[in-house]
Amino acid sequence: TRRITVRDIAAAKERGEKWPMLTAYDAMTASVFDQAGIPVLLVGDSAGNCHLGYESTVPVTLDEMIMLSSAVVRGTSRSLIVGDLPFGSYQEGPTQALRSATRLVKEAGVTAVKLEGGERSAHQIELLVQAGIPVMAHIGLTPQSVNAFGGYPVQGRGEEAAQQLRRDAKAVQDAGAFAVVLELVPAELAAEVTTALHVPTVGIGAGSGCDAQVLVWTDMAGMTDGRMPKFVRQYAALRESLGDAAKAFADDVVGGAYPAEEHSFH
Ligand code: KIV
Ligand code: NA
Repeated sequence: TRRITVRDIAAAKERGEKWPMLTAYDAMTASVFDQAGIPVLLVGDSAGNCHLGYESTVPVTLDEMIMLSSAVVRGTSRSLIVGDLPFGSYQEGPTQALRSATRLVKEAGVTAVKLEGGERSAHQIELLVQAGIPVMAHIGLTPQSVNAFGGYPVQGRGEEAAQQLRRDAKAVQDAGAFAVVLELVPAELAAEVTTALHVPTVGIGAGSGCDAQVLVWTDMAGMTDGRMPKFVRQYAALRESLGDAAKAFADDVVGGAYPAEEHSFH
């Protein structure tokens, strides 16, 4: 078996095939998704909230992304691995973006990188693509700008905002992105953009008209603590199962039921 490539991703759009993407932050979880046949895994900077205990993605560093991404690469053999460029690692311009992306590719071994922004990030995308680094773009709600948005509102509502989203989608495609994440975008607009583009759209909170769908794995598997966004479907209740397992282990230890004779050496 070989890894999925960006050519496979392009071919899927031509055939009209939908595909799933999940986030992963460590080798153990990534190997589960790799063996489950998830074609694309994103080492998202959502690791900030989901894995590292930060309030948002803003504090995540490039060194942290390299550490997490290299683990995901080591844990997989088939999935295409995309690593997020964190806040502050590409906003200065194309040269900084290339320096950061090169580290993710060389030190972590990811195949592609993702960065946020449409028109505003087009020059960065162009230089990375010229350098031979596949880029996944990310438009609509871009969580690294949470402080500017004042939260995580749905994007592209109203004609002016819709026009901006259309321009952003066109800009990242023209810059050479191989796919584009649409986050928190009205379903009708996301479907329209998906039809207009020849590169695939990856929706999250963007309706069923996208070419692919991504979820944060801890949300998908019911591992996240607290309220879920409206767009999430939980496919397991891992947080409850794992908590129950920990409590049962604790009870057995305190009550003397574990270890039993069969767990002992003589
Ligand atoms: O960091 C992340 O998990 C993401 C996806 C939600 C697209 O950027
Ligand atoms: Na991200």
